[in-house]
Amino acid sequence: MTEEYAVGFFDSGWGGLSILKTARQTLPHENFIYVADCGFAPYGDRSHDFIVERAQKIADFLFNQKHVKALVIACNTATAEAIDTLRKERPEAVIIGVEPAIKPAVLSSQNKRIGMISTTRTARSARYKNLVERFGQNASIFSCGCPGLMDCVEAGEFDSEKTMGLLQRYLEPMIHEHIDSLVLGCTHYPFLLTSIRKIVGPGVQIYEPSLAVSLHLKECLRKIGRLNTQGTGHERFYVSKLNEQRKSVACRLWGQATPFEELGIN
Ligand code: DGL
Repeated sequence: MTEEYAVGFFDSGWGGLSILKTARQTLPHENFIYVADCGFAPYGDRSHDFIVERAQKIADFLFNQKHVKALVIACNTATAEAIDTLRKERPEAVIIGVEPAIKPAVLSSQNKRIGMISTTRTARSARYKNLVERFGQNASIFSCGCPGLMDCVEAGEFDSEKTMGLLQRYLEPMIHEHIDSLVLGCTHYPFLLTSIRKIVGPGVQIYEPSLAVSLHLKECLRKIGRLNTQGTGHERFYVSKLNEQRKSVACRLWGQATPFEELGIN
């Protein structure tokens, strides 16, 4: 694949593949470069400064070395902590983030009782508080930081006893609050959808942002005149502290065997 003029994606690990998979379907002609910062995950338990520094280094790699034409921060936590800095540093660049889908959930909810699960950092972030102030005025929103859940996905444990135990602990208080909608505020969580569904039951509407993000990316590329309309798009994967475990989980999540390269940014 020619890496020139691909779209760059990054996440602390493999969660952003939940966005990349939908982007692949929505934008079949684009080349994608995905950075999984596995060696420095989870971001959810790190400081603001740490997350901003990782995001800056990865953005430098993607823009300066790979010359990407747009960047998708496929991580709610990195969006909450670092998107403002990245946009300030590159005011001309297309930089798209991911945020909990509070707005559509509030609009469609019948009883206006909504649950939101994310990393602790996202749940406490100023950006999320702002989102709730803007769109959650007429609703009761129950937000919960969920340490440990992303690690279950990274370990390939989608329905283990440990994963189910954590999900139960985080979701049961929301079920008792009679939520009718649940927002997945971390890009890792769509990979736990079957397990989440088992716990919340069929009546709760679950929101994840991959289609909205992919359509927004498409529109941004169209606007700057750089949407590919021909040819088959390819993907390339860079991983910090690459190892066999990380490769094998990524292949399961991505759905096919694929080559990986060491990111080499410390
Ligand atoms: N996938 C990430 C998110 O959307 C972060 C998980 C983590 O690194 O803690 O927030």
